[in-house]
Amino acid sequence: MSGVNEIRSTFLDYFRKNGHEIVPSSPLVPRNDPTLMFTNAGMVQFKNVFTGLESRSYSTATTAQKVVRAGGKHNDLDNVGYTARHLTFFEMLGNFSFGDYFKERAIELAWTLVTKGFDLPKDRLLVTVYSEDEEAAVLWRKIAGLSDDRIIRIPTSDNFWQMGDTGPCGPCSEIFIDQGEHVWGGPPGSPEEDGDRFLEFWNLVFMQFDQTAPGERSLLPRPSIDTGMGLERMACILQGVQSVFETDLFRTLISAVEETVGIKAEGEAAASCRVIADHLRSSAFLIADGVLPSNEGRGYVLRRIMRRAMRHMQLLGAREPLMWSLLPALVGEMGRAYPELVRAEALISETLKLEETRFRKTLERGLSLLSDATVTLKKGDMLDGETAFKLYDTYGFPLDLTQDALRARDINVDLSGFNDAMQRQKAEARANWSGSGDKATEAVWFELKEKHGATEFLGYDTEAAEGVVQAIVRDGRTIDGASAGDTVQIVVNQTPFYGESGGQMGDTGVIASDHARLLVTDTQKKGEGVFVHSAVVESGKLAVGDAVALTVDHARRARLRANHSATHLLHEALREVLGTHVAQKGSLVAPERLRFDVSHPKPMSAEELRVIEDMANEIIVQNAPVTTRLMTVDDAIAEGAMALFGEKYGDEVRVVSMGTGLHGAKANRPYSVELCGGTHVSATGEIGLVRILSESAVGSGVRRLEALTGEAARAYLAEQDERVKALATTLKAQPGDVLARVEALVEERRKLERELTEAKKKLALSGGTAGGDEGVREVAGVKYLGKVVTGVEPKDLKSLADDGKKSLGSGIVTFVGVSADGKASAVVAVTDDLTGRYSAVDLVRRASEALGGKGGGGRPDMAQAGGPDGARAGAAIEAVAGAIAG
Ligand code: ALA
Repeated sequence: MSGVNEIRSTFLDYFRKNGHEIVPSSPLVPRNDPTLMFTNAGMVQFKNVFTGLESRSYSTATTAQKVVRAGGKHNDLDNVGYTARHLTFFEMLGNFSFGDYFKERAIELAWTLVTKGFDLPKDRLLVTVYSEDEEAAVLWRKIAGLSDDRIIRIPTSDNFWQMGDTGPCGPCSEIFIDQGEHVWGGPPGSPEEDGDRFLEFWNLVFMQFDQTAPGERSLLPRPSIDTGMGLERMACILQGVQSVFETDLFRTLISAVEETVGIKAEGEAAASCRVIADHLRSSAFLIADGVLPSNEGRGYVLRRIMRRAMRHMQLLGAREPLMWSLLPALVGEMGRAYPELVRAEALISETLKLEETRFRKTLERGLSLLSDATVTLKKGDMLDGETAFKLYDTYGFPLDLTQDALRARDINVDLSGFNDAMQRQKAEARANWSGSGDKATEAVWFELKEKHGATEFLGYDTEAAEGVVQAIVRDGRTIDGASAGDTVQIVVNQTPFYGESGGQMGDTGVIASDHARLLVTDTQKKGEGVFVHSAVVESGKLAVGDAVALTVDHARRARLRANHSATHLLHEALREVLGTHVAQKGSLVAPERLRFDVSHPKPMSAEELRVIEDMANEIIVQNAPVTTRLMTVDDAIAEGAMALFGEKYGDEVRVVSMGTGLHGAKANRPYSVELCGGTHVSATGEIGLVRILSESAVGSGVRRLEALTGEAARAYLAEQDERVKALATTLKAQPGDVLARVEALVEERRKLERELTEAKKKLALSGGTAGGDEGVREVAGVKYLGKVVTGVEPKDLKSLADDGKKSLGSGIVTFVGVSADGKASAVVAVTDDLTGRYSAVDLVRRASEALGGKGGGGRPDMAQAGGPDGARAGAAIEAVAGAIAG
């Protein structure tokens, strides 16, 4: 029996021996195709190689490609768990020829591998060809010796493979295996073709055309080959099982579910186990490729997959977040073939834990709402859209989770009702949003782009340049001229001013003509490539068509450059210290400081921060030149450049490298290599120094660093140093002893405070003068201690009254404390033997009245009140005496 890992390596080794380069899988988030949500075939990473746009050092290649088909055009999410072969994540094995061999060799290679390498019986194999492709039919007969009834001609698009609406395409030929009469189904092209008996497992595409637009095809520079074999399907065939979930890899994952939750994958639980096993794979691989759960785009597809699996965990009886504990089983199975899974294990684990913890807060309530709402529904009924929307909006149930939950009972969801509810909510949100007229302003930039094209940016090489004013804009409209005092936006044909992007703030500076001078306060990029200078006309008049000199504020730009370069160094140091799961999630490069957000599941320790800072400073001290090169995205990534996941890059990208690594795998290699459009120092020494100020949390799994560089960092450290020195002088200590001295002082102060409180209480009890109990008198046969005290905190009055009670043995105590601002608080305490006759609550009310206050409260043995009139403290004591006397 061939395990999944063995099949994969048999395939790759076979093609390597036949002269193919083994190329690693590209990420699930396509880097060279902004139109695709996820990589959905092996050829995606070679798209530009087929069309001749890009060249590689090899002309034939083989890959095991990670593929996700959930969300976007190919979406298998709904079927997973309920059919034998649907998966959201699978591996596609492929061999590729870029203008090297064509049909004949492709068929020969495939046939030999299938019949000799995998040893499939010839008499159970058959193939399809595109009906117009007679050449392929002839070749199959010649190479495989297949009889005509085993070469089936298909006239439909099933045998013409296209990547999408545009891109490389061509006729294809699929290889099928007959699983035997015991399985229902007919051969391809027959009415029973949907049955499982004849199983397709390998698609050979004879790439010949490039679909440039709908209805328009051109020939590829040279005919090429693209093939795709579903690894999981091949495993089914070789392991003699009907369902991918019965193959070795899935059995391991399903056993992990059984063990973790303590159930058996039988009956209804089986489908849940299958969903969980599949969704665990897609979630883990997506997170490893930089996707994090969110409410938009790719992140939302991931969240849907994760939450769906989590509901099934709950169905199986899991009472706490457990998805994460399945991860080691997956890494054990697939980590060797996909090292990114090992590298990202901690991040995946934390992300799963966090999402499940969060979702569990609403999961149970949502499920009980769902079961209440469907109690009366029967098979074939429809859940109303309002409820489905409420589940989505309030309980975080993605729509397909609700659909999945009702699937077993054959209940559908009213989709149009759901969409109506969604639209209504959006309309309400819009109505609450007061329009700012921003739309009109935005339109003007697109018009200018149409008219003049994008602004040429000269600022990588120079901070001063000349240009011609193309447009002056005020309040979203173009105007012909501006004069002193006007606030306007200026577009020039070319500029050295950097327009805010990639976290780096826009430049400021001066624009001057023969007749006018303008102060530029900010520069932004609008309407795809139009640089917009926000400016105030300081003097003179400026008109469209004027020639101007543009000068960037040099000192500010120098600080921006240092901060941007320092960001790159910190990024690399973070990866070195914390692991390669660290990915940039946002940044702000301002002149006075830098802010950098990265994915990392937990707070960084002081020690980690120190090491990160030290590493970045080591590279700064190297004073190594910073080099910038332009290259294609794929070449840049091949060279190890860090790219932002999900960012769109043009055909050409700038790759910024700096420093030489000193430790581990980076030793003697370029230290930081990143795709970046920002402006940088020319040598690392210009950064001067980097100092991390703080580390904090922003959102889940994202941490933020703030740091200073250069003069700002030096000034910060100098100021800290001054503070320590001033402290030392005040404390009459050496700077090194300041901490110990302060700790001792804090401790001493605590002790003194305690002593002071005790002393004040004692003093108050003793009547403010030294000596005995002269405040005690008898009122109606009851011992009464009434006293005005100062310098005692209201909160200490009660314990004072307790002490008073103790000293009387039997009697009543009143203390009125007067604070510095003249307000009074009173406490009355009655010893237990007297509470039958007197209530402290009643008595304290009398004191409160005297003090101009209202009410008071407490228990019969102790009550407290306050009043504004501290001058009447004596009267309050007498008022209580009066009340005791009756
Ligand atoms: N690109 C082809 C497919 O995905 C091989 O089926």
